[in-house]
Amino acid sequence: MDGNFADLAPEGRVSKRVYTDSEVFRAEMDRIYGRTWLFVVHESQIPGPGDFVTAHMGDRPVIAARHTDGRIHVFANRCTHRGMQVCAARRGSNRQFICPYHGWTFGTDGRLAAIPRARGYGGRLEPGDPGLDLTPAARVESYRGFVFASRSAEGPSLAEHLGEMSRAIDNMVDRAPAGSLEIATSGFRQEYAGNWKLHMENANDLMHASITHVSSIESAREVTGRLDGEEEHHALQMFKGNGLPLSLMEKVEIHGFAGGHSFMGGFYTEGAITQKTDAPGTRQDPVNAAYEAAMGGAYGEERAREIMGWDTFNHLIYPNLVLNPKHQQMRLMQPVAADRTIVHSACFRLVGAPEEMHARAVSFLNALNSPASQITSDDIAVFNGIQKALRDSDTEWIDLSRGLGTDHRRNTEESVGDIGTSELPLRAQYTAWRAFMAEP
Ligand code: FES
Ligand SMILES: [Fe+2]
Repeated sequence: MDGNFADLAPEGRVSKRVYTDSEVFRAEMDRIYGRTWLFVVHESQIPGPGDFVTAHMGDRPVIAARHTDGRIHVFANRCTHRGMQVCAARRGSNRQFICPYHGWTFGTDGRLAAIPRARGYGGRLEPGDPGLDLTPAARVESYRGFVFASRSAEGPSLAEHLGEMSRAIDNMVDRAPAGSLEIATSGFRQEYAGNWKLHMENANDLMHASITHVSSIESAREVTGRLDGEEEHHALQMFKGNGLPLSLMEKVEIHGFAGGHSFMGGFYTEGAITQKTDAPGTRQDPVNAAYEAAMGGAYGEERAREIMGWDTFNHLIYPNLVLNPKHQQMRLMQPVAADRTIVHSACFRLVGAPEEMHARAVSFLNALNSPASQITSDDIAVFNGIQKALRDSDTEWIDLSRGLGTDHRRNTEESVGDIGTSELPLRAQYTAWRAFMAEP
């Protein structure tokens, strides 16, 4: 497919075709998802030899498996014989993958190991020919347990791609007293009838929070009024956090990077709503006291406070990963079609932390990122509504210019920053989008 799509997203606005046109979608799958680094699996999901998950790199189904030598391999979930999906399970443990159609058998490194009744091919097709192995990702690399792969052998290294975003992963891992994370099995998958970018554009959009989520804000305020001194569930504080006055939302810092990444500062903490704090950001209760003690023991007081006090909220790693280190949350967008996306949400266990900390992360996942979340259901309704209205109207342009011109360059980092309600993160995403989409 050729053609330059960059004109569809000039500075500060985007054509509706970017969301609705299947030709644009196919170009994105080749030019963005076919080139850049994509999160595939967390190492804790496949701890032992033979463990595997099925996943996607963009719209391409893949298998990520740990081979007998401990190495993680990522390869296409597509038999090299006549194209059957080799593995239908979402996860498991295997010595081999046996294609359910004619039984071609592949190792956990993706290599063709055996062909039943091979004589029929007259010696033309035999194990050992790399062209018959399950097509491997060109590059696979892990950063502190987060495994990324790229379909392209060329381009920036994973470290270069992550840039400053590696600090988000560092902080997430460092929050574990034992220095490692385990993904929880209680994740969710939710599909919506909208483009993958709608979710990424929403995840750092502070302007919408007090408006879109007004129903949960109001009910949380009402419930708080009836608490009568009882301790607040942190979901209540989360709901009320969305209702911060815009003047306070604007005090949150927001940052965007040319590579499409962005992040925002923290805007609430358990126990107190704050814009920015260097305190550990956790309420004083026995669970946090035990956690802080474990962190102090592992890292020393000062370093532990530095790690726990790193107060940010969502970090968007372009093109499709959202990490929230402070609350151990992850969301991954799986683009299915121009108007179809599956959101995978999960949380992590901080290894070495009190078990109740994990219960809090699961509770956060349920309150904010699950299909049953009163917050997520609002956002999904918006994504579905945008997609339908774009499809059914003749109006071409979407505006992304809020904050354009007030973005300022930070002194020390290669990024720009602005006040919290700016659409800067969206413009950062489209700067990257244009760079990928200009050339076949
Ligand atoms: S399609 Fe896989 S063995 Fe024939
Ligand atoms: Fe939202």
